Amino acid sequence: MAAAQVVVATALVHDGRVLAARRTRPPALAGLWELPGGRVEAGESEAEAVVRECREELGTAVVVGERIATDLRIDAGVLRVHTARLADGAPQPRALEHAGLRWVAAGEVAAVDWVGADRAVVADLVALLG
Ligand code: CDP
Repeated sequence: MAAAQVVVATALVHDGRVLAARRTRPPALAGLWELPGGRVEAGESEAEAVVRECREELGTAVVVGERIATDLRIDAGVLRVHTARLADGAPQPRALEHAGLRWVAAGEVAAVDWVGADRAVVADLVALLG
């Protein structure tokens, strides 16, 4: 049996806030917020996927940190959350899949309208932001 597809999500932290990105698609997720990320490609490490997705979706370079939260089952496979910090450049919504970005402080994390899987890591994000 093939291993489950791994999807990485990035808890990109800057100045005590974490970046949330507003999805435009698919219709079921449009308008909801997520930690930026996507599928790990063949031959790529999870950290490499985080770096690539942040470059493609946000136009920014990041340095990947540790993994947080437990693995989450999602329709696409398994979602793993990695922390990261900005190495260069302010994030901009580059990909068609994001309509906007916002920096979220610890006290605001629980009130964000997250996509389902990401809602499960709210407590981990609050702990991360301290
Ligand atoms: O960018 P790519 O097409 O590789 O992946 P994606 O469409 O961004 O994400 C793959 C799947 O993981 C989708 O079903 C997303 O909804 C899900 N996902 C998620 O649940 N939470 C995230 N933070 C990122 C992706």
